[in-house]
Amino acid sequence: MKWLRRLALWVVVLMVLLLVWLFFGGRHQPTSPAMSKFAASTLRDPALIAKGEYLVTVGDCAGCHTAQGGAALAGGRALATPFGDIPVPNITPDPETGLGNWSFEDFWQALHAGRGRHGELFYPAFPYTSYTKVNRDDALAMFAYLKSLPPIRQAATASSLAFPYSIRRSLLGWRALYFKEGVFKPDPKRSPQWNRGAYLVQGPAHCNECHAARDSLGGTPQNEHLSGGQIPMQNWYAPDLSMQSNGGLQGWSEQDVVDLLQTGLSAKGAAFGPMADVVVGSTQHISRDDLQAMATYLASLPPRAAAAEQKSAPVAAAVIEQGEKVYSQHCAACHRKDGSGVAGVYPPLDGNSSVTEPSGMNATRMVLLGGFTPLTAANPRPYSMPPFAQQLSDSEVSAVVSYIRRAWTNHAGVVRPEDVSRYRHTPID
Ligand code: HEC
Ligand code: HEC
Ligand code: HEC
Repeated sequence: MKWLRRLALWVVVLMVLLLVWLFFGGRHQPTSPAMSKFAASTLRDPALIAKGEYLVTVGDCAGCHTAQGGAALAGGRALATPFGDIPVPNITPDPETGLGNWSFEDFWQALHAGRGRHGELFYPAFPYTSYTKVNRDDALAMFAYLKSLPPIRQAATASSLAFPYSIRRSLLGWRALYFKEGVFKPDPKRSPQWNRGAYLVQGPAHCNECHAARDSLGGTPQNEHLSGGQIPMQNWYAPDLSMQSNGGLQGWSEQDVVDLLQTGLSAKGAAFGPMADVVVGSTQHISRDDLQAMATYLASLPPRAAAAEQKSAPVAAAVIEQGEKVYSQHCAACHRKDGSGVAGVYPPLDGNSSVTEPSGMNATRMVLLGGFTPLTAANPRPYSMPPFAQQLSDSEVSAVVSYIRRAWTNHAGVVRPEDVSRYRHTPID
């Protein structure tokens, strides 16, 4: 029975190790007080506050931390995730429900390390996986701006996370897989402009949080950087952002990227769905120099492998014929027979990555829902597209979307009537 005793001993040792890890493994490491030494008046410096306001806009903090119709940055809503609803906290300086009693060091730990004031681990619905790249000077400016806001008293809503996700410590494993803590390191071989763009895109602007595929644990594997993916819990697909061969933005110029981010409309496509919110709330306010830097960085993303032949059923000629008929009747007046659109008014559909993205959901949902190009300072009278949900049947929508995905220079897979019906009946977000 010696082996049994040995086994029992091992079990005890393992359990002790597990308990030690559970209780101490993720403990908050207090940073040395020397690091946070700066005069309290620093936080009231108007230049620092203005810089912080700009960076909070680049970071689109209000996109999540402001409830519909609620006070700016006062939280009060919850984000739906595949694991349950996560409340978004108040980040105005209210002492009880917001950041009133936070030191800069607390804020730095949140943004940079994804940890709360008491060492608790944050859910990555708070995109600290990107914000960790923000440098200390910029974080200090953001903090100064947040501290300068009027304090709003508003407690967070309740969480609906199910076990084991409700245990924050369960995030230790997730973090080991997907979270690399560290400020952006400039690449000395690249230009200052490229480095500025890379910093903004990867850090504060957190483009990768939407524009990358997520696996079943909700993480974005490193090699998927900006290569496109469906947004969790939303029937929207954020396309690949490479501008080189087989990239989602193949054929785009840097000016097209700047135009889209600044006005919501470019010669190659228009922003809609969640991207329209990003343009309205954040990128339209980014300076031209910074937008140009971001475009320079995107232009350096590598070419992509050619997509494998899309595994869709062979397309019946009748479907494409029906699609072409629907197109000339309902769409060509705006998007033109050759899919080239009207510059500055109606986006082209030929060579448009949102039409040809792998899932087909963007074009399908645009046809069902219609929409307005985003209302921006540069585009004060947006043009609109009518919704076709009432007017066209599932098979008509599938035919016209399949048609535009294969017409002209487009070569994407077809969309089936079942898919249309699904997007029609589960119109999440
Ligand atoms: C995509 C949505 C999203 C964006 C964008 C976002 N946050 Fe958050 N933030 C969250 C969520 C969700 C939490 C709560 C996480 C949790 O409970 O684990 C959070 C938590 C925080 C916290 C911790 C507050 C507390 O009381 O514990 C701070 C500080 C914070 N965010 C600051 C920011 C700043 C600054 C920005 C912009 C640079 C920002 N957030 C942008 C979703 C977001
Ligand atoms: C909240 C999610 C989200 C974030 C954050 C986001 N995007 Fe998008 N983006 C989308 C979606 C969804 C689309 C597809 C709809 C469309 O084309 O407008 C899109 C489309 C685009 C397009 C246009 C593609 C086309 O064919 O028209 C560009 C360019 C783009 N995003 C760049 C960016 C950049 C740069 C950032 C960071 C500053 C960013 N996006 C951040 C969701 C997001
Ligand atoms: C009255 C003019 C008009 C008609 C008719 C129209 N569209 Fe549009 N379409 C637009 C506008 C404006 C946008 C940009 C909307 C936005 O950004 O939210 C757009 C956007 C789109 C998009 C998204 C591409 C992008 O980059 O924004 C697709 C796909 C699309 N339309 C397909 C169609 C199809 C298919 C039909 C016919 C069934 C159609 N449209 C009819 C005006 C029109």
